[in-house]
Amino acid sequence: MSDPTSHPWWYDAVVYQVYVRSFADQQGDGIGDLPGITSRLPYLRDLGVDALWITPFYTSPQKDHGYDVADYTDVDPLFGTLADVDRLLEQAHELGLRVIVDLVPNHTSDQHAWFQAALAAGPGSPERARYIFRPGRGPAGELPPNNWDSVFGGPAWTRVDDGDWYLHLFDSSQPDLDWRNPEVGDMFEGVLRFWLDRGVDGFRVDVAHGLYKEATLRDQERPKEPEKLAESMVERVLQDEPMWDQPEVHDVYRRWRRVLDSYPGDRMAVAEAWTQTADPMAMFIRPDELHQAFNFGWLGTPWSADAFADVITESIAAVAAAASAPTWVLSNHDVERHPTRYGGGPVGLARARAATLLMLALPGSAYLYQGEEIGLEQVDVPPESRQDPSWFRTGKPGRDGCRVPLPWAGDAPPYGFGGAAGTQPWIPQPEGWAALTVEAQLADPGSTLAFYRQALRLRREVLAGADDDTAASTDGDVLVVRRPGIRAVLNAGTYPAPLPEGEVLISSGPLPGGVLPPDTAVWVR
Ligand code: GLC
Repeated sequence: MSDPTSHPWWYDAVVYQVYVRSFADQQGDGIGDLPGITSRLPYLRDLGVDALWITPFYTSPQKDHGYDVADYTDVDPLFGTLADVDRLLEQAHELGLRVIVDLVPNHTSDQHAWFQAALAAGPGSPERARYIFRPGRGPAGELPPNNWDSVFGGPAWTRVDDGDWYLHLFDSSQPDLDWRNPEVGDMFEGVLRFWLDRGVDGFRVDVAHGLYKEATLRDQERPKEPEKLAESMVERVLQDEPMWDQPEVHDVYRRWRRVLDSYPGDRMAVAEAWTQTADPMAMFIRPDELHQAFNFGWLGTPWSADAFADVITESIAAVAAAASAPTWVLSNHDVERHPTRYGGGPVGLARARAATLLMLALPGSAYLYQGEEIGLEQVDVPPESRQDPSWFRTGKPGRDGCRVPLPWAGDAPPYGFGGAAGTQPWIPQPEGWAALTVEAQLADPGSTLAFYRQALRLRREVLAGADDDTAASTDGDVLVVRRPGIRAVLNAGTYPAPLPEGEVLISSGPLPGGVLPPDTAVWVR
């Protein structure tokens, strides 16, 4: 095993994602906030994570819950003040926790001063040239400039009063910036420096693959049936994508890397890049670009030992070529929570715990999403309470079900989240969460929370600094991952498997009768 200090902190860190609106509400308005996060930092330290990533808390009309930024260098009053950020950073650092903040460079809010100026200045103006405004097609310009769709449904273009159209790959309140305009890059370098000067340890880069569009803005070619890459729960298809992953985007990250490297203390950035396969993902983490990229291939893997083994092998190979370390993630604020993806109920939870234990044995770093440590499932949020912009654009349930405020304590909403007793937070919490609260699970050694705490402690003890050629292999439905000193073994089948020889350090579920039951993983020494 190599010297644990030879890697920068992020290389094998466990990072906990805080969805700020739904973590803890100190101000008592039913929406989480920065003082709420600060008040719960000891909880995160005791959980055993190394860092937290906080979703956007900047000035924003909240059309996409903060991913529509109106001022990149100020805090929305909903969440607190700049002084609250300073306090949070100071206390996190005192507790030995790093802090990553979210950066949203693909688009601004339509309330950003630049977009307001662009609307006022009119067609052909330098103000409009910071965004992607174009005349429409058709005799009177009444048709959108091309056939692109918004990720949230419907056309990716909206027409303004003077007849010009602007591009928004997400909601119409999120106009895309034109990164071919040098003013945009200069503005974001200033934003990076602003937060680095305040002491953040890194950035999560939103839609990192989106910044540049193919210059011609040509139509997307759409074969009737896009080629499917894998049978997965998160659809991955190979298709023509002139709006994503253009080669020019890498120059942005080379510039940012120079900025990050000019600060002391291993400042880092992790890309949210939904590339079609692992190889283009690895381009974002070449040695002079960003440090990490989320491995969404892992998140989309179906429940199968072979599929897990393939993704592990493929992910490790792809990042090795880029001389970085892999990352692993099972849940975040955009996808169905993994116990539900794995079938829900007791089976879904057993599989989720097993997949987590396997993930925590893998090399590189792991990203956890708030609430997974207490086994939360996706909530069926009633239509009248849904808030996701994609729900309003498509009529499909959207992402609210993984964003329900956390239950901390007590028998009824708001379950210690904050706000007056008997009131509901911004997305209502379901009945029946009393047994899931942090308070209840801290009192129960068999709880999912106790399991996470034990797994994270063991990971530090057994695997910190481990540097090795990880191998994943299968024997039928049983997956074995070999790391220095331990093997992680998962039974993804439907029959019990023999318990591997050696000392069981931890198991994701009960081990009755000396076998490894289905939907269960162990670490063995
Ligand atoms: C990213 C965020 C998502 C947001 C979108 C637009 O995918 O994770 O929550 O809606 O970007 O900013």
